[in-house]
Amino acid sequence: MCGIVGYIGKADAPTVLINGLRRLEYRGYDSAGLAVLDDERVVVSKAPGKVAALNERARSEWPAERFSRASLGIAHTRWATHGPPTEVNAHPHLDHSGEVALVHNGIIENYRALRARLEGKGHHFYSETDTEVLAHLIGECDKGNLFQAVCDALHQVEGTFGIAVLSAREPGRIITARRGSPIVIGVGDGETIIASDASAILAHTQRVIYLDDNDIAIVTADSVDIRDLNNIPVTREIAELGLDESAAEKGGYDHFMLKEIHEQPECLANAIRGRLDFNIGSSVLAGMGTSPRELAELGRVVLVGCGTSLHAGLVGEYAFEDLADLHSEVQQAAEFRYRNPILGSRDLVVAISQSGETADTLAAVREAKQKGAFVMSLCNVVGSTIARETGRGVYLHAGPEISVASTKAFTCQVAVLLMMALKLGRGRRFSREEGIRFAQEINSIPMLVERVIRQDAHIAGVAASYVANEHAFFIGRGPMYPVALEGALKLKEISYIHAEGYHAAELKHGPIALLTEGTPVIAIACDIPGKDKTLGNIEECKARGARILGLVTEGDHEAAECMDDFISIPRCHPLVATIPAVVALQLFSYHVARLRGCEIDQPRNLAKSVTVE
Ligand code: F6R
Repeated sequence: MCGIVGYIGKADAPTVLINGLRRLEYRGYDSAGLAVLDDERVVVSKAPGKVAALNERARSEWPAERFSRASLGIAHTRWATHGPPTEVNAHPHLDHSGEVALVHNGIIENYRALRARLEGKGHHFYSETDTEVLAHLIGECDKGNLFQAVCDALHQVEGTFGIAVLSAREPGRIITARRGSPIVIGVGDGETIIASDASAILAHTQRVIYLDDNDIAIVTADSVDIRDLNNIPVTREIAELGLDESAAEKGGYDHFMLKEIHEQPECLANAIRGRLDFNIGSSVLAGMGTSPRELAELGRVVLVGCGTSLHAGLVGEYAFEDLADLHSEVQQAAEFRYRNPILGSRDLVVAISQSGETADTLAAVREAKQKGAFVMSLCNVVGSTIARETGRGVYLHAGPEISVASTKAFTCQVAVLLMMALKLGRGRRFSREEGIRFAQEINSIPMLVERVIRQDAHIAGVAASYVANEHAFFIGRGPMYPVALEGALKLKEISYIHAEGYHAAELKHGPIALLTEGTPVIAIACDIPGKDKTLGNIEECKARGARILGLVTEGDHEAAECMDDFISIPRCHPLVATIPAVVALQLFSYHVARLRGCEIDQPRNLAKSVTVE
């Protein structure tokens, strides 16, 4: 979603800001803008569309000296919420004096009332945004102290914000604050960079400070002074990012998505490394912070997440029931707090989120904590809000996921869930030998995924036959049902083909009415319990003219013969097989989208991290 960059230091601010915005492009946005202080004036440049358009606009509008002179500024990529993605709605927004500029992520929920009040005092608004209202409110509160003005304004707003503010009246500082929308401050050598996402900071420094909710910071080129909104100083540690700048590059691949699919054997090895104990036949997940007694007393596991992370949770549901004999259920994070979930101290709530910033998942975490459940998270982004608020959990170690469509985070989420289920299973029903066997299965995941990736050229060839269709169905059973949902999600989000995932048995309860000659049905028909029934469902589809692409277990000729096209999945435990199976579908979707000429890494309307409800 929206991205923020702020810079103060010795380099030329406009260039640093535009490069920072480029690093945030993957998050999804539809317009961009920047404001710098030049000659004690605030100057703004904005453009609808991409950061490249903003760069061109600023370079044509501004004198070249401004680029070398300005050493302080703020910038933004906007994902439209209030008003369309036009130049006038793009950030930064100015207050009524034109001397205060603001960039904002999040939503000011009471902006209408604030706007009406300010209009009553003679303020005129140019945009439809909630952000312009906050800019005016800060200006209205400014009686000669920008920090105090921002505090006073933020006390009056309801909703969420990550903001950066500068003022011509107070050159040499940027004020930044957060509530529900992340802000990271990079502490460089004589320069400070503010961003909504560490990837915009990587080029400058590895040393960062994460703001907590209701923190507000006064940032100069060589100091960061953090307080709460009542002006009480707070201490936040400096953390090391530990990320390589090359992690944010494409490394020779045409798209980040393809790079991230191919990286999976290595990411999965990182997610698994050091976490399996073959002596005791269990996993070692210190971050869970649970004693064997606490684990033994658990009555239920509730998995919450959104989108792809929700699908990982659905695989986890099968794993906890199957391996740990533990009642397990998945709930959509967006519904969780509105349905009054019944929770207690014997319930383990696992929040699953690649970004660790998804608004609905964060709200579910807070609700579960409120209700006294045992809460932990599976996040990829270290130091993210959900990881910090849960305080316990397991990091995925997938490395930065830049492509909007999630791939490596999903497979690492499933791998970690399998390790959690193994740990719980060993405390309940698994013998040591069974534990060792399953640990070996988990350990083989990177190699299994590698074998699917080696079929990339074959999958690209298969994909070519499915490019012209506008509808597709994905079907699967047991743990392959969530894989079908995830396969359909991947295809629709990047290729814009209308794709639906169903349990294989559900098709004949309605959707089969949509099958006509040549409709693609992608059937996950691996050799797991229920395969024969899935083959029966495939025959039902073929009888209606559907074209079948099957995922079949290597060497299963009987299944392969039922298909028009097939991709082989290595033979392994049914739960483990979900991972290579999904990788095959990721590659299939990627190639279909590529052949259709789609903008794969930044699909239309989508954002990488959904920080609004
Ligand atoms: C789809 C996708 C989304 C995310 C969802 C949750 O490819 O990436 O469906 O999975 O927005 O995001 P996180 O995992 O960051 O909470």
